[in-house]
Amino acid sequence: MSDRGGFTVWFTGLSGAGKTTIADIVGPELERRGGLVEYLDGDVVRTHLSKGLGFSKADRDTNIERIGWVASRFTRAGAWTLVSAISPYRETRAHARGMVEEFGPFVEVFVDTSVDECARRDVKGLYAKAFSGEIKEFTGVSDPYEAPESPEVHIRTEGMPPEESAQAVVRALEERGLLRVDARA
Ligand code: ADX
Repeated sequence: MSDRGGFTVWFTGLSGAGKTTIADIVGPELERRGGLVEYLDGDVVRTHLSKGLGFSKADRDTNIERIGWVASRFTRAGAWTLVSAISPYRETRAHARGMVEEFGPFVEVFVDTSVDECARRDVKGLYAKAFSGEIKEFTGVSDPYEAPESPEVHIRTEGMPPEESAQAVVRALEERGLLRVDARA
């Protein structure tokens, strides 16, 4: 198989941590550098590919399994793939990594924002509902989040503008030699 230079950047973190915001800044920058960029965002995937799935462990695992599989295909095809999904379970993320790494690098980015900070921002108004019990099984409040132990990139977002977080991700990809378009076989 010829290496078409595909890879997957996997943003994991709590709801409202900033995963999508950062990915949406990284994406256009990667396009400027000549990449064919694809996005797999949990909120979006749940409107079609994972439509009907809820937030039990089984459903979240199915969701992440699907996203991991599609990311592996995109990676195989040479796309620079940006995944943003809470993906709360370590083992499930490891499985997604295994699928992707058959075809290209997997760069795990831990978007590390505390529950307190996410609740303070509460962009979608979901934390208020989670704390009142209106939403059950809410990640970080009434459902687990297993933080990565050794992510390739660890971003502590508190006090850091999203542009700066995005730069840190792009730098990490550069350091790994992943953004060299003309070096492809
Ligand atoms: S995952 O756990 O399966 O990876 P995913 O990233 O696809 O989750 O979807 C998370 C989004 O669903 C959140 O950003 C939020 O908008 C919404 N959501 C609704 N209910 C929940 C819940 N109980 N826990 C977490 N997120 C929820």
